[in-house]
Amino acid sequence: MIALGVFLVLCYHLVQGQFPRDCTTDDAIQTKTCCPLWTDGSPCGSISGRGKCRNKVAITPFAAGQVIQYQDDRLGWPRYYYNKTCECLGDYRGYDCGDCKYGYFGEKCDRKNTVVRKEIRELSFLERKRFFSYLALAKTTKSQDFVILYTGDRHHKDTYRFTDASIYDVFSWIHYYSIKPLLINGDFVSSRNYAHQGPAFPGWHRLGLLFLERQIQLLTGDENFGVPYYDWRGEKNCSICTNDFLGDNDVEGFLSSYSHFAFWKSFCSGYNYIDVYCLSAVDPNEMEKLHRKPGADPDAPKLPTFQDVEDTLKWGDFDRPPYYRTSKKSFRNALEGFLRPSDGVTMEANMHNLVHIFFGGTLSEVPISANDPMFMLHHCFIDKIFEEWLRRYQATPDTYPANEEPGHGPNECSTPYFPCYRNKDLLRTSDVFGYIYSKYQGL
Ligand SMILES: *[C@@H]1O[C@H](CO)[C@@H](O)[C@H](O)[C@H]1NC(C)=O
Ligand SMILES: *[C@@H]1O[C@H](CO)[C@@H](O)[C@H](O)[C@H]1NC(C)=O
Repeated sequence: MIALGVFLVLCYHLVQGQFPRDCTTDDAIQTKTCCPLWTDGSPCGSISGRGKCRNKVAITPFAAGQVIQYQDDRLGWPRYYYNKTCECLGDYRGYDCGDCKYGYFGEKCDRKNTVVRKEIRELSFLERKRFFSYLALAKTTKSQDFVILYTGDRHHKDTYRFTDASIYDVFSWIHYYSIKPLLINGDFVSSRNYAHQGPAFPGWHRLGLLFLERQIQLLTGDENFGVPYYDWRGEKNCSICTNDFLGDNDVEGFLSSYSHFAFWKSFCSGYNYIDVYCLSAVDPNEMEKLHRKPGADPDAPKLPTFQDVEDTLKWGDFDRPPYYRTSKKSFRNALEGFLRPSDGVTMEANMHNLVHIFFGGTLSEVPISANDPMFMLHHCFIDKIFEEWLRRYQATPDTYPANEEPGHGPNECSTPYFPCYRNKDLLRTSDVFGYIYSKYQGL
């Protein structure tokens, strides 16, 4: 009995992700129900007062114009899959209300803890070693809570198949899945996606980092683990591309066999299929090794400068019409990197986009870029700049603009996280989510 008690405490569930294993059974998919039994034996832990199974999904109506286009499985997330989900009370959170809101810990979710995210070069030798061993563990440990959708005809849900993935691979798959072309009026449209080219961009990536950070905290029992960032301002070349840090590469771009990620493979390489998902998940021979060629692309010979970051932060409007990659004088679009930050009108690759292109290889292939841990460090710095902007302009969820971009509406769920986080709710300062940033080189 004591042993069982310990087991139950240890296996409390993870905040969010995709898809909850318990909700991919034939029955769950057919009845569109995702209300798993918590360890007290009741759906959503209702007997223990953690949550309730709700007959309607806690999401808002479609934005104008979306109803007729509704074919894409992710639009109006997550209603295509589930219309009965757990609604958690208080500080409980998770698909079965078994976990806590970000920043809260303990079985009763009554302990608040704030982690400090540091620049990777600020970590002590030991902290750095620990970080790399945590990543190795996340890359090789099967996720107990989540499975991924790896194949299926986009038009027919009964052909969908789910499979296991490691914790790190679930993270990179979530990014990949958000970028698959949209099925709109019978056509596959790749000019729009749920994570980029719209106001959801900064919040979407904030949630991705929170997901991975929390997964690693739960996996290792280290509640103080914070994702490190890479402050690339003014770097002539990638100074952390050494084997003590993120890894050197050979002339072909493959990571040095002495680097921490030498044997990592991209989970969803061979991603260029319109109507299937991640076939390489079940055939590792199809996966390619990580590669990078920092500074080799003539279109991106340098990383953004200190001035580029300052210029980006001077745009006080979070986003502006048409809320797309063509938006001018928009903080979001300058940060995402479709604009020259200084004038806010010239279209050029800068900031976030420039860094992806600068690195080449895996990082420059957007759908699979999250496979390279550099993605996490890069996006953590983007999130730090976002955080600086939120504080400087005292932004709140009401700052988030109404818009018609699919999946980018203020009240839409950030797609495909599960359970739902509304896009606008990510416009809160990071302490609300249990982390803060260290000061580094004046930022
Ligand atoms: C939820 O989905 C099921 C299965 O498709 C359907 O029978 C039911 O009517 C739906 N409920 C609501 C409230 O939409
Ligand atoms: C930048 O650094 C990488 C990794 O150390 C190296 O392969 C590359 O040749 C360097 N590029 C330049 C232009 O110095």
